[in-house]
Amino acid sequence: MYLQKRNRILRATPAIRSLVAETTLSPNDFIVPLFIDEGESVEMEIASMPNYYRRSLDLTIKEVKELWSLGIKSVLLFIKCKDELKDNTGKEAWNKEGLMQRSIKAIKDAVPGMYIMTDVALDPYSSYGHDGIVENGEIVNDPTVEALVKMSVSHAEAGVDMVAPSDMMDGRIGAIREGLEENGFNKVGIMAYSAKFASCFYGPFRDALDSAPGFGDKKTYQMDYSNRIEAIKETLMDIEEGADIVMVKPGLPYLDIVREVKDAVDVPVSVYNISGEYAMIKAAAKMGWINEEKAIIETLTGFKRAGADLIATYFAKDAARLLNS
Ligand code: PBG
Repeated sequence: MYLQKRNRILRATPAIRSLVAETTLSPNDFIVPLFIDEGESVEMEIASMPNYYRRSLDLTIKEVKELWSLGIKSVLLFIKCKDELKDNTGKEAWNKEGLMQRSIKAIKDAVPGMYIMTDVALDPYSSYGHDGIVENGEIVNDPTVEALVKMSVSHAEAGVDMVAPSDMMDGRIGAIREGLEENGFNKVGIMAYSAKFASCFYGPFRDALDSAPGFGDKKTYQMDYSNRIEAIKETLMDIEEGADIVMVKPGLPYLDIVREVKDAVDVPVSVYNISGEYAMIKAAAKMGWINEEKAIIETLTGFKRAGADLIATYFAKDAARLLNS
């Protein structure tokens, strides 16, 4: 046989494979979601997310220091709101002394270089577990947007670097941008969850924050997973309204959307490798059905190959360790 072209030449050894690798992964790619709770020395493993924890602020700070030492540059904060502070308006979300606001300040003080992002949506604060305000059984758009603006401004006052609205209300990016400008926070960024689909894979996250919707589902605001053109429309509108980074969420069942968004926009694209995706790998690994470490790196590399510039993932710490070793 005389072949003009032998593709296996470039696959022959680890050295040549790494020399021609089209996609590389580094701790710079990761955003680490953190679940914060009240109290001290609290570390609660989330039942449906093995080896992932909800921690009090003191232990969260310890964790952030460790993440920083591994080369991770960004955290995305979520808090667990006490039941007695939840109501339909979600007003605890903009309490200046609230757990989120205290956490932003304390983490900034402890690790000034860490880029802090915060989730902006009412669900952890809502007695109904919905991302917006409920009137007559409906999630109302415009009053919710007003609440999200107050929430974003209060995070900015506490020192956040970038707010991440995850609610999918119409017009919230423009309103938040305007609210930040009006209040003098012109250095605070917005990472918009632009194409966020109504997904069954959010289940473990809702366990972590006790934020499952009390009635109905989120299909009147989160996107229908049958749609792709709509994902581009949502994303372009968010960029028009002032989003600095756009996000596709969930990740694994939506890699086609990540690619299409990446090809359509000129801002960084992030993807959220969500709780249910984490749980699936953990469960299969626990059963001995897949190799966990390899599954993590292959999955995260897949996100980057699909076009993601940034990956929010519960695997960030493990992956950073693996990449550093
Ligand atoms: C809240 C929010 C959710 C997630 C991030 N922000 C859940 C939801 O929309 O119900 C999900 C993250 C995950 O599952 O890992 N607006």
